[in-house]
Amino acid sequence: MAKDAEEHKKDAAYKQAKREGYRARSAFKLLDIQHRYSIFKRAFYILDLGSAPGSWLQIAKKYAEINLTKYVDKYYHRDHYKIMGVDTKKLSSLEDIKIVKMDFTTPEFLIEVEKFFEGEKLDLILSDASINKSGNKFSDQSRQTKLCFQILKLTKFLKFKGNFVIKIFQGADFDNFYTEMKQNFMVVKSLKPKSSNKKSNEIYLIGLKKK
Ligand SMILES: C[S@@+](CC[C@H](N)C(=O)[O-])C[C@H]1O[C@@H](n2cnc3c(N)ncnc32)[C@H](O)[C@@H]1O
Repeated sequence: MAKDAEEHKKDAAYKQAKREGYRARSAFKLLDIQHRYSIFKRAFYILDLGSAPGSWLQIAKKYAEINLTKYVDKYYHRDHYKIMGVDTKKLSSLEDIKIVKMDFTTPEFLIEVEKFFEGEKLDLILSDASINKSGNKFSDQSRQTKLCFQILKLTKFLKFKGNFVIKIFQGADFDNFYTEMKQNFMVVKSLKPKSSNKKSNEIYLIGLKKK
């Protein structure tokens, strides 16, 4: 019965995503995070890690475009945006977004980031990246956390007070990662988005204001 309810929810979210023009239903997870924490406020330089098929990039672009006209004041603003998405899987193009097909844990990726953003710091880094699940909850959790630690290193590209979103699986190593997040961000929040499968141990950590 519970399974049917989850399947129904997934199906409804899938249909809603299609209706609204999003490439995946994970779009609603990011929108949920945005509605609670306004992570896109004044975000012009954005990096999205693990982007395929691209719904988070679609949302990033929407907010970056809004920001161009919304924040024209004496505080931080830009007259253009730069968004980069990366995945090992092929991603179909999105206008005005740089897409790279590579493993973001490689040294070559660091060079790509430096080149594209011309050495400038980023306002926001998003990661919905996940390992290929084996089905073994313990080893999957541990592998995902390992990946998260690698991703956290990429926050060296964030500006002071920049924001960060990352998907992690709850389990044994979770506390270590959470502690590390606290050392890097002034505020750390966790959120299980409404559209996330209740049975899955995935959760998002939101690092607000990089130290
Ligand atoms: C859940 S999907 C992302 C969905 C995306 N946020 C969207 O809205 O369309 C996770 C992605 O992370 C990617 N990924 C995982 N590890 C990666 C790595 N080391 N380098 C590049 N991509 C990676 C996978 O290939 C997969 O496509």
